[in-house]
Amino acid sequence: MRMIIVLAARNAGTFIAAILVLPTILCNPQGSKMADGIVLEEKVKKYEEFVNDKLRKDLETVQKAQEEVHSKIAEYLQLKSVIENIKKSNGATGKGLKTLKTQVDLGCNFYCQAQITDPSKILVSVGYGFYVEFTLDEALRFIEKKCSQLTTYSSKLGNDSARIKAHIKLVLEGLRELQDIGPLEEEPRPICQTLQAR
Ligand SMILES: *[C@@H]1O[C@H](CO)[C@@H](O)[C@H](O)[C@H]1NC(C)=O
Repeated sequence: MRMIIVLAARNAGTFIAAILVLPTILCNPQGSKMADGIVLEEKVKKYEEFVNDKLRKDLETVQKAQEEVHSKIAEYLQLKSVIENIKKSNGATGKGLKTLKTQVDLGCNFYCQAQITDPSKILVSVGYGFYVEFTLDEALRFIEKKCSQLTTYSSKLGNDSARIKAHIKLVLEGLRELQDIGPLEEEPRPICQTLQAR
């Protein structure tokens, strides 16, 4: 049992292994009657630890990653609207942006040139002080591709998060059965409280 839990805890993809063990406990509730209480308590404790230490941490990590992806997408969308405004004002006056004297951070490591001689180009920082020059349309295409990648990634993270939540629910339901905790239990276990809070 311990081996399986430890193995499962090391790999988010295999924590189902721990869940697969649960039914064997549930289908086998009368082992040695004498040791039952203690063994049961140990098992319950292990599963609670598994939920709290592993599954809920995984969930937090995935949710945090998804938040970061969302704010990245928001940054790209902001950059997109800045570029579209540059395009618009280029088209309107032909020289409106040549008055810019400083380097303007557009977000996502994109910068306007400090002295804009060609307002149809922007620079993307590739690190170590190097910049790649993009035309505005290239930049827009780049942003579109980036946003599409990020959206797919966010969808994957959303699926991961849903899967982990389902596993948490499954383990908790198994635990409740294991302990025969009815809905009339006066004091909800802390593990349940935290989950309901989400
Ligand atoms: C997430 O799940 C939905 C529904 O099951 C599926 O259509 C979609 O392709 C999944 N996204 C990724 C990136 O796997």
